[in-house]
Amino acid sequence: MTTSKITFFLNGNEVTVDNPDPELTLATFLRYKLHLTGTKLACEEGACGSCTVAIARWNKEERKAKFVSANACITPLYLVDGALVLTVEGIGSQKRLHPIQERLSSGNATQCGFCSPGFVMTAYALLRNNPSPTADEIRSALVGNLCRCTGYRPILEALESFARPSGGCCMGGKGGCPCKDGKSENGVPEKSPDVACGLVNYEQMQKFDETSEIIFPPTLIVASEQQTLSINGKRITLYSPTTLEELSAKFKSLPNVDNIVSTGILARFNHSQVPSPAARSTWLSIQRIETLKKVDVVDGEILIGSGLSISEFLSAIRSNCKTAQYVDTIEELYAKYSSDQVKNTASWSGALATAAAKFDICTLFLALNWRVRLYNLSTSSYRTLTADQLFSGVNGSKTALASSEVITALLVPVAPTHRIASFKHGMRFGADDAVLNAAASYQAGTGSCRIAVGAYHKPLLLQKTAQIAELRLKSGSSADISTAVEADFEVFSDQKDVDYKRSIAKAAVIDMLSVLAGEERDGLDVARNALEPLQLYKAADDSITPVGRPLRHAAADRHTTGEAQYVDDVKIHDLKHAALVHSTEAHARILSIDPSEALAVEGVLAYVDATVNFLNNLSLFRSFETRDACCILSSVLSTIPFQDLPPGGLLRPCQQPFIHLQDNAPVFAEGVVEMVGQPIGCIVAEDVQTARRAAKLVRVEYERLPAILTMEEAIAARSYLSEKPEIYGKSEEDIEAALKAAPILLEGECSIGGQEHMYFETQSSVVVPMENDEWTVYTSTQSPSDAQYLCAAILGIPANNVVIKVKRLGGGFGGKGTGDRIPRGPAMVAANKIRKPVSCVLHRYDDVAATGKRHPALFKYRVGIDGDGRLLAVHVLEYLQGGYSTDHSLSVATVIQYADACFHVPAMRGECWALKTNTTSNTAFRAYGRPQTFFFMETLIAKVAQRVGRPLNEVKRLNLAREGDIALCGSRFNNFCLPECWNEVERFSQFDKLQKECDAFNKNSARIKRGVAISGTVQGLTIPGFMEQGTALVQLLLDGTVRINVGTVEMGQGLNTKITQIAAAALNVPYEKVLIIEMATDKTANTVESGGSIGTDICGHAVKKACEKLLEGIKPHMEQCDGDFVKALAAAWMAKVPLQASETVSVERKAHAMPDNDHPYFTSGAACVLVEVDCLTGEHKLKSVDIVMDVGDSINPALDIGQIEGGFIQGYGLTTSEEIGYDESGRISNGSLYSYKIPTVHMVPEHFRVKLLEKGRNYPGQIYRSKGIGEPPLLLATAVHSALRIAIDSYSSNANSSVLLTFC
Ligand SMILES: Cc1cc2nc3c(=O)[nH]c(=O)nc-3n(C[C@H](O)[C@H](O)[C@H](O)COP(=O)(O)OP(=O)(O)OC[C@H]3O[C@@H](n4cnc5c(N)ncnc54)[C@H](O)[C@@H]3O)c2cc1C
Ligand code: FES
Ligand code: FES
Repeated sequence: MTTSKITFFLNGNEVTVDNPDPELTLATFLRYKLHLTGTKLACEEGACGSCTVAIARWNKEERKAKFVSANACITPLYLVDGALVLTVEGIGSQKRLHPIQERLSSGNATQCGFCSPGFVMTAYALLRNNPSPTADEIRSALVGNLCRCTGYRPILEALESFARPSGGCCMGGKGGCPCKDGKSENGVPEKSPDVACGLVNYEQMQKFDETSEIIFPPTLIVASEQQTLSINGKRITLYSPTTLEELSAKFKSLPNVDNIVSTGILARFNHSQVPSPAARSTWLSIQRIETLKKVDVVDGEILIGSGLSISEFLSAIRSNCKTAQYVDTIEELYAKYSSDQVKNTASWSGALATAAAKFDICTLFLALNWRVRLYNLSTSSYRTLTADQLFSGVNGSKTALASSEVITALLVPVAPTHRIASFKHGMRFGADDAVLNAAASYQAGTGSCRIAVGAYHKPLLLQKTAQIAELRLKSGSSADISTAVEADFEVFSDQKDVDYKRSIAKAAVIDMLSVLAGEERDGLDVARNALEPLQLYKAADDSITPVGRPLRHAAADRHTTGEAQYVDDVKIHDLKHAALVHSTEAHARILSIDPSEALAVEGVLAYVDATVNFLNNLSLFRSFETRDACCILSSVLSTIPFQDLPPGGLLRPCQQPFIHLQDNAPVFAEGVVEMVGQPIGCIVAEDVQTARRAAKLVRVEYERLPAILTMEEAIAARSYLSEKPEIYGKSEEDIEAALKAAPILLEGECSIGGQEHMYFETQSSVVVPMENDEWTVYTSTQSPSDAQYLCAAILGIPANNVVIKVKRLGGGFGGKGTGDRIPRGPAMVAANKIRKPVSCVLHRYDDVAATGKRHPALFKYRVGIDGDGRLLAVHVLEYLQGGYSTDHSLSVATVIQYADACFHVPAMRGECWALKTNTTSNTAFRAYGRPQTFFFMETLIAKVAQRVGRPLNEVKRLNLAREGDIALCGSRFNNFCLPECWNEVERFSQFDKLQKECDAFNKNSARIKRGVAISGTVQGLTIPGFMEQGTALVQLLLDGTVRINVGTVEMGQGLNTKITQIAAAALNVPYEKVLIIEMATDKTANTVESGGSIGTDICGHAVKKACEKLLEGIKPHMEQCDGDFVKALAAAWMAKVPLQASETVSVERKAHAMPDNDHPYFTSGAACVLVEVDCLTGEHKLKSVDIVMDVGDSINPALDIGQIEGGFIQGYGLTTSEEIGYDESGRISNGSLYSYKIPTVHMVPEHFRVKLLEKGRNYPGQIYRSKGIGEPPLLLATAVHSALRIAIDSYSSNANSSVLLTFC
């Protein structure tokens, strides 16, 4: 029996879909067909977990439903036939939060909230199978869920509360927190009574109760026998028979079978990258063959069916293999697999069949010489191959698999007698896909050894290495193993990064030999204990005011239930979808553009660009019967200079005189492209997938021009974005004299790479034409007012015709100050052309390719010091890689004025050039250009410390800036607490003790080294000049509620929550009565870009002033109504008293005698970091992080601590795992969430402790004496860099190396 229907249950309701396209994913179906937008898309390649859903199937043997987490973005819809699928909407709502949602919401575990539904569903799947998991199981389950905002601590703490008793920071007495008895180990009181400890107590929250969850649908338990599925999509026809015989019959009957898949997850993903509608193929799937989903034990071997997932393969080994060392080693390897979601759904056989070295099973299979059973569909016969036989055909063909053969089972010995070992090294600590994996086996009796590594395309047996290993293991010989690895690696000599991979392979072999010899492994211990976090802050009196209280994010419940809406969630009738056509050249003249192939795709509506108007000709295109005819027409049309822009519209709207960041970047490239990824045009289609695929079919012919891709090339060519550099500090003569006068003169160079924002919501815009040429634009911008002016300019209409609305951003970090121009301009032009609403939501690949990043920087410096290491004079020249257009680059260049970082330099001069290169136009990123300058200063001081022979921490301390010092920028360090934070963090972290322990550890450990370091952060706020203005509109409604619009954007930083607290306090109304509506330019106009850590500073003042003005008006009525707010409002309205007020205010300076150009206050802090480094592999882990920050009188300690932890972890990524790679053509080579490595839960330190300084120095003109906090904590990650440097220095000096490792 054959069917084309699939039936499954979604959140309890039965859903039947007839003939689902094999390429249709579960996520697309949920989001765009059912409008269940709680399932978020941040990567669309299975790498981030935002789209996680829980999938349950009935397990006949165990007679219960088994739940797994799965990535909806890579799961083909046909796979969920017969399953119960639960999405975030199905388990709770804002009105009735699920316990997981409650804990994440209340635990301050959401910031922008984009990742939150994914975390909820991963935890849900785990708890449904295992209601009381260990902390380790929880952390492991979460490794496939990434978060760019929180730094994970609150997520882990909230979810680990399901695992163990929690009693605030001391964890029910189990934690090692120094505040427990009011005294730390060295007897210093840590906690005064007015200091609160811990933010949340989970004890009082709902428990997870399996019995109140959605039941597994009984109809699925008694479901009838499966039928053959036959589905026919636009490009793929898929047959999924239920028996091998039927599979064989189908194979024989079909003229062409292009692919035989297991789940088809990987195959569908690969196929989706091919744009051509002609890429038609026929697939067979083994997924429905019950006999291939079994585990049997036959003749001393475990037969693991090829239809099983990787998790099921592991469980089969765990349940049936009798050799514990064997099982543990395999599990150890798979504990480093990059995601549980993939492990739970993808098949082991799909990985093995590819023979790809980076898939761990291939290396394992080869090293252990397992066997695999194959079935020939043509001859209906079986054969069994060893690993050597299966992989023998690797050169040329992938495996020895014939095109008519399918893998049916893996054969693993039940009681293996040999010892085995495994190894995996990824780009980040804990779990990741492999840079290099390895496995080995040793049979003591025969003395035979096999070692395999996966380093490049295919796994390789290290035969010479194995021979030496045999000698060493059998007879204790000390034969040189490194030389053998080098000899085996000769085959890779022409491969990229071969030196690096060879050295990792050596470490792998050394490690595995210890294990095979039955010794302790020497490498870094990846095991994790339960998190021991601590948060200390000034206790607020809850009875008085919401200001000062650690309230959760105002939208936290909406985040965790998936009800929070982002741009791509907006529901608009008749919405069309645009996808960009990007340049594939770094610098070239466009010779011709041919969209004919794209326009011929069903569902495509138009091609839009800066040159040719094709829309009017679309019907003409369709009327042509052959592709050739279309091509001829298109080449004729491409010579006609029509513009898709309407008359008066500007292609370069950022050149209007009133746009403060002048930029010459066009909406679409005009004649010339200047970087890979630059938008050339866009395709508009009925749905997103069609638009994206068709956009790749637009053919662009180029004539290459010389391109400048690196900073070195730009410096040599004097390719700058401005005519003059930014210069601050002493004159050239004065700095030369100061350097000359210094007893010691040093010079050096250092550089730091860029950083990708990786906000989880990609750049997105939805543009809606209204009557009278009015437009409503929903867009992911941090600069709504700029967006308004630019949209109007593109169409040549007045600005008052355009309203920009921003409900929230799924993260911004500065990247959405200008970044949303990339989809917004094209969407505007397209919508104007087709007179319909158009959405342009960038795919992650397109977002990374087209948008600006943090500027890479290169520093050349000279420094004069005294014999103690005191800085006397510094002259620094900085180069920033600006990219092809100005964007924020010239403004970031001004940050050279903060190049003294948190140090005092009596004589300093800083110069900075922004370089013009043919790369992405780099932009603002959290902390602007400061991370680069802090990194420079940290490197400079390390050099000074090395020269004077003093510890790095001592030299840093010696040079710290103090209150009243004049900074390089010319401002006095006002209201500045860095020295206090530094002292406090030394005490809080017990720095002296840590250092002694570290030294003792390093003496006794040859390979693993520790380093402990302190770094400071400081940022002058607010920002003198036009940025110091904020706007708010406050409306008092007659039922006693308050509606507010503020002129700045909520992007996860908690701005709306703080503003709500400020308004509630100012009006003296309950916090719950105040609602912040979206940022909308028809409510608050001419606002400044949201960023720079000043949103609460400026808009808080505006809200407070508006509230005070309104209160003044209703005061007489309040008195008459005995303080009854609702009655007073009614009375005031009757008396025609205004009940709405709008205020634009600037930061008060005159009243507090603050000079116009000074920063009124500085946010400062210090962090102490302890790291452990495996000096053979370079792998490291953070053991502890202690942070003390001065945030003034915190308006909301929970949010401030969230910013501190999140900022620190983002800086940690910059310092260690994150690196943007370019290939020789200027294309970003790791432009995805899979290949660009942001930190994961595994990278969070076990001890992560944050203290808000109790008594800071506050500027009285600040809103409730608070300080801005968003950016400064990121700079604390320089402490990680220092600590790593110390650890590595310790290795190189122990190793008697004559050259200190260079580390920058
Ligand atoms: C985000 C992500 C992270 C990952 N991380 C890791 C990691 O850390 N470590 C790791 O090892 N792997 C990792 N992988 C790889 C993953 O394990 C494989 O992609 C997956 O197992 C392939 O199985 P599938 O069911 O999707 O294959 P399918 O799509 O079903 O098949 C893939 C191909 O294999 C062949 N094939 C499949 N089944 C058979 C069969 N029975 N007989 C013959 N040929 C067959 C076909 O040619 C088919 O095209 C990751 C993948 C993703 C998406
Ligand atoms: S969107 Fe699915 S895993 Fe990232
Ligand atoms: S809160 Fe996790 S990505 Fe923003």
